[in-house]
Amino acid sequence: MKILALNSSPRTGGQSKTELMLNHLVAGMQEAGAEVEVVNLREKKIEKCIGCYTCWTKTPGKCLHKDDMTKELFPKWLNSDLAVYATPLYNYTLNAEMKAFMERTLPFLEPFFEQRDNRSVHPVRHTPPDAVVLSVAGFIEMPVFDQLSNYVQFLFGRHNGLLAEIYRPAAETLSRDENKKETVLAATIQAGRELVNSRQVSAETLNQIQQPIIDFQTFALTGNIFWKTCIAEGVTPKEFREKNMVPRPDSIESFMALFPDGLNTKPVGEGKTILQFNFSGEVADSCTFSIEKDKVSAEQGHKENPDITIEAPFELWMDIMTRKADGQQMFMEQKYTVSGDLELMIQLFQKPNAG
Ligand SMILES: Cc1cc2nc3c(=O)[nH]c(=O)nc-3n(C[C@H](O)[C@H](O)[C@H](O)COP(=O)(O)O)c2cc1C
Repeated sequence: MKILALNSSPRTGGQSKTELMLNHLVAGMQEAGAEVEVVNLREKKIEKCIGCYTCWTKTPGKCLHKDDMTKELFPKWLNSDLAVYATPLYNYTLNAEMKAFMERTLPFLEPFFEQRDNRSVHPVRHTPPDAVVLSVAGFIEMPVFDQLSNYVQFLFGRHNGLLAEIYRPAAETLSRDENKKETVLAATIQAGRELVNSRQVSAETLNQIQQPIIDFQTFALTGNIFWKTCIAEGVTPKEFREKNMVPRPDSIESFMALFPDGLNTKPVGEGKTILQFNFSGEVADSCTFSIEKDKVSAEQGHKENPDITIEAPFELWMDIMTRKADGQQMFMEQKYTVSGDLELMIQLFQKPNAG
């Protein structure tokens, strides 16, 4: 099976979740024996269709533009058995790069009118490749893909060639839960294998890909703090990542949501550890983290007999957490205190963003 996999995300440098998902789908397809070519549309020159109908009249089947679409991509598309359209969800539908590509496939149709299944259609000059649509979104709900789904079902439905729609909401938060990320990506590889072996993706595999990874409250709390930090520091998300920055909590709730990301839970092993924070200053509040079997659960307030208690001004701890202040130096200067298992605390914090 010859497959052309089109990626229309403009993002580079490992930022793109469309690319991440597509790479895994392609790995599964190749494993199942398909010949796959991946094309990043951002690297190609694709003029906009100007609606001249030259491809229907003067030069039937040939576009008047002389760009990468006419020279390279349109012939490749026509020669493929399957095209994967991988697009980030922009304004609840496909993005402009992908739309431009699709519009430029007009030469495969003839201008005449026919009716099929109660629908007006143009006859085809060449049989188009079957289609798989892959998309990722920022928001967490599956219905964000409804518009795109409706569109691609109508568009590709006229040739009965839509083999699968693969959608991943909350794509930007995939990395918050490494275990779930692994399952989602493993299921995406599996989807690639299934497509080559049986020209469809099973409901079970799709469910794994779409599985919820975050509840709205945590999504909003951590997302808002992330954007607030970018605004306050004057950095884009790409720069935030490149500088290895850490979101700065501004409340006990956002601290409770974000702090576990930086904890090294391994030293706790099979046991259980309770870490107590008592903050003073702008956010004078307390919370605990119970660490058990690689899981961290946060609760506001106090717990009896914590293993480690940290008393600190909230802003100082946020400086340490975001690496604006040195935790060890602040400890030596007695800017905060620790009681309990100091050795364990050092081990728990041996991850870059734990403070
Ligand atoms: C211009 C623009 C429009 C977007 N529109 C939506 C949207 O309508 N719904 C949504 O859930 N996410 C939306 N997003 C978020 C992207 O879908 C999300 O960041 C995705 O991960 C981008 O894909 P990429 O990582 O492959 O570039 C939008 C992002 C941009 C830049």
